[in-house]
Parts: sequence; C-alpha cells; structure tokens
Amino acid sequence: MSTQKSYENEKKLLKNHHQSHLLAFWEELEKGQRQDLLAQIQRLDLDKIDVWVNNFIKKNPASSEICADFAPALSYNSSPAGPEQQRKYAEAVKLGKELIAAGKVAAFVVAGGQGTRLGFDGPKGNFPISPIKNKTLFRIFADSIAAVSQKYQAGCPWYIMTSPLNYGRTKEIFRLNNYYGLDEKNVFIFQQGTLPNFSSDGKILLANKANIACSPDGHGGSLKALYESGALDDMKRRGVEFLSYWQVDNPLINIFDPLFIGLHVLDQAEMSSKALIKSGPKEKVGNFCLVDGRVTVIEYSDLSDELAERRNPDGSLVFELGSIAIHIINRTFAEKLNADDFSLPLHRAAKKVRRINKKGNAVESDGIKLESFVFDALPLASKSVILQTIRSEEFAPTKNATGVDSVETTRRMMTARAADWLESAGVAIPRKPDGSVDCLLEIAPSFALEKEDIKEKLNQIPKIKPKSKVYIS
Ligand code: UD1
Repeated sequence: MSTQKSYENEKKLLKNHHQSHLLAFWEELEKGQRQDLLAQIQRLDLDKIDVWVNNFIKKNPASSEICADFAPALSYNSSPAGPEQQRKYAEAVKLGKELIAAGKVAAFVVAGGQGTRLGFDGPKGNFPISPIKNKTLFRIFADSIAAVSQKYQAGCPWYIMTSPLNYGRTKEIFRLNNYYGLDEKNVFIFQQGTLPNFSSDGKILLANKANIACSPDGHGGSLKALYESGALDDMKRRGVEFLSYWQVDNPLINIFDPLFIGLHVLDQAEMSSKALIKSGPKEKVGNFCLVDGRVTVIEYSDLSDELAERRNPDGSLVFELGSIAIHIINRTFAEKLNADDFSLPLHRAAKKVRRINKKGNAVESDGIKLESFVFDALPLASKSVILQTIRSEEFAPTKNATGVDSVETTRRMMTARAADWLESAGVAIPRKPDGSVDCLLEIAPSFALEKEDIKEKLNQIPKIKPKSKVYIS
C-alpha cells in the first residue's frame, strides 16, 4: 500500500479514537520519517487503548476496587518449624541441588527499568556497588553464576531483560567486559516491549514530530518478552525448566537457592516467591495476600492504611509478608500464558514525560505511564509457594542515591552479611560499641556462595583488624 493510502487509513482510524494529533506534523516530515511514524501508529491497538484510557488514565482504580476481599498469604518459614518440616526442607535442598546440577535452572534478571531515582546515567546493572572492589551489579551476578556453574559443574544460562532504551548500552557493557568471564553463548540479552505515554485526558503523547513517546511496559512485560525474544525456545532447547527471577537492584540475591527451588518443585508450584517480614506497616514493598484463595501481591501504595496497620493479638502485622521480587517461574507456565494470549492488568504511574507540545516545542511535563507487574501473574498460577527469607541475608536493594534503600545502605549490608558469614564460621570481626561492623568486608562469590562454604576455607582468611578493608577471594 502506498504511504499516502496508509496515511489516509490511519488518519481516519485515529480520528475515530480521538488521537488525530499524532499526525499533526505530517507535512513537516520527510519520507522515511513518515513511514516510520505510520508503522508506529499501525502497531498501536487503538481499541485496547480506548479501554486503557477509560479504565486507567481517566480514573485511578482505588485499592478497594482492586480487591474487595482478601486475607494474609501463607508461607514457609526461613527455617523448618518441626521435625516433619525439617525432613521436607532437607528433601527440597537435595532436589534443588540435583536440578541445578542437571542444568534445569536458569538465571533471569529484569534490568529494563529506567532507574530514575538513582540518578545514574546508563543501565543500573553497570552501577558500581561492592564495598571494596567496586564491582558493578552485573559483575556480582556474573561472578555468582560462574561460581554456581563451577560448584555444580553445570551450565547455568543467564537471561537478561532490557528495554529498547538500554538494550544497546547493556550489550555494549557486556561486550566490553568480556561477558565477565562467562561464555557469551550462555548469556541471552533481550528487550521488553513498550507502551505509549499519555496525557491525563487520554491523548497519546509525541516524543517529537515523528515519534510516539513510549516507555518500557513494566517487569510484567517480561513474560511476553521471554516468548517474543525466543528466550523460552532457547530454554527449551537447553532443557531449562525453571527461571530464577530477580531485580537488578539487589546484589545480595542468592540466585540458585536449592531450598527455594526444591520447595517450589515438591509442591508442584508454577510460580513462587520469596518474602520477608516487613520492617513496618508502610515499608515500600508489595504485600502477599490471598484473594479468592489465590496468592496475590498488593503493592504498598494500594494497601489502605487501615489494612497495613492491622495487627494480630501478639502485636505482629496481619499483612507482614513483604515481596522482595524474587520468584521461581516455570518455563511451561510462561509458555502456557503466551499460548493463551494472556494480558496482565495495567497500573498507572504519574511521571514526568519528555515530549513535544501542540506547537512542536520540546517540553517536560506530567504524563501517565502504564506498566504491568510480574507478580500479577501469581494468581494465574495453579499453585504458588512463598518462602520467607532473612533480610540481612538476601535483600539490600539500591534504589536511591541517599537515604532508605540507597547505595550507602546496600554497601553497609554487603559488609554486614560478610561479617555474619565469617563470624558464624568462628572468625573474629571487629565491631563498634553499637554493634556495627568496624571494617569493610567483601567476599568473592568464587570463595563462598553461602555461609557453609566459609567453614571449609578458614585457613585462607586473614586476621581482620579494626578499620581495615578485607577482600576475601
Ligand atoms: C519493586 C516492587 C515491589 C517490591 C520491591 C522490592 C513494583 C511495582 N514494585 O519496587 O513490590 O517489594 O521492588 O525491591 O515492581 N523493570 C524492568 N522493566 C520495566 C520496569 C522495571 O525490567 O519496565 C525492572 C527494573 O530494572 C528493576 C525492577 O524491574 O530491576 C523493579 O523496578 P522498580 O521500578 O525499581 O520497582 P520498585 O518500585 O523499586
């Protein structure tokens, strides 16, 4: 079809959907730009967009509408509650180790976010975070994957989701770092989709005269992107059955956790999660709930104050299980969702958007971005396990430049965990009067992936002096 004919078609369609302004600068565009813009418009599902505008842009669904009736979710404790559970945990660990060794488990990090809060230019995975060696998040994960691969003598493929905004840069970073010593064939970097940005009255925004303003479609987009990128096929070819999912901001992640994998498989779950006991009612993490008997995460911003503050007779929070965005996802679950052309609910976020105004001038103004969340797939799973974990062991996200969940807190927690591991093996650690660690510590994943690994290598650990910096590798 000629460009002119397509233009006429799209113009009519856009008019019917109140989005004619997308072609406002048509006359000023060159041939290539025109074709490109038409292609972008053709990719929009305008019927769906009408529904989104009515449901999410023009109104903000209140929490009560999201789930009228829910209860706290059930979970496994971080350590077994009695002899029977002790047996189950031991069986799970054994099974988990067998599955890792058989190459059935792959690593999967979502790294497509824009990381605006951190104020770091470039993919967040390239942020230097470790307390002594300044290793970047990507290097820490790569070192852990290499150590697991070595420990279990198994191929441990790594899937990395990026967005169109940081895909090229992420690929380049991996190439420049020689894939951090991993085999390039085992590192699969792919892109998630995007969704248009809107004004509060439901108009799709233009980034410039020839392009629609878009942003990544949220980590929920990962389930589609795994399929569309060919990652699921790649997993199938390699015999991978389980994806260990985590967020790029958390360097304490235990990527291949035999207990978690084992419990997930023993209970025949399709998608499972790790949780921790929240530090307070309003901690900024998702809340694990049961909605109509199904495990569901309600984001902190969607849980009413009354429910967030509700307490049990012993004083503990009723909704005490916080999500740390660590999941096991079955490959077959992701395949099944895609075969059914599923869609996850969309969530709106009011954010600053760079765009052009009616006159065609570049401005930054309030806009609305739509995102889907991966945890919204939990209720679609036939079974879902929640395993509690200990914050100091596994959760130190770097989200902000300063304050809570910041670079500083993450570094401090990395040293603190290393100190705990060393102390539990009998190594003396200098501490300040308030109990905090009085030195900087970093343990290379090749030295220890967990506490237990330290005990076998005590003779390699130097004496740790106050105020010293000790890298153990
Ligand atoms: C998230 C979770 C919250 C959880 C907390 C734990 C949401 C809405 N909230 O909060 O329930 O308790 O982490 O730390 O997710 N990402 C993409 N593509 C996107 C958007 C995000 O890959 O389009 C990735 C980011 O790179 C990051 C992760 O998803 O790895 C989380 O994104 P972020 O926006 O930082 O979520 P939080 O609000 O911090």
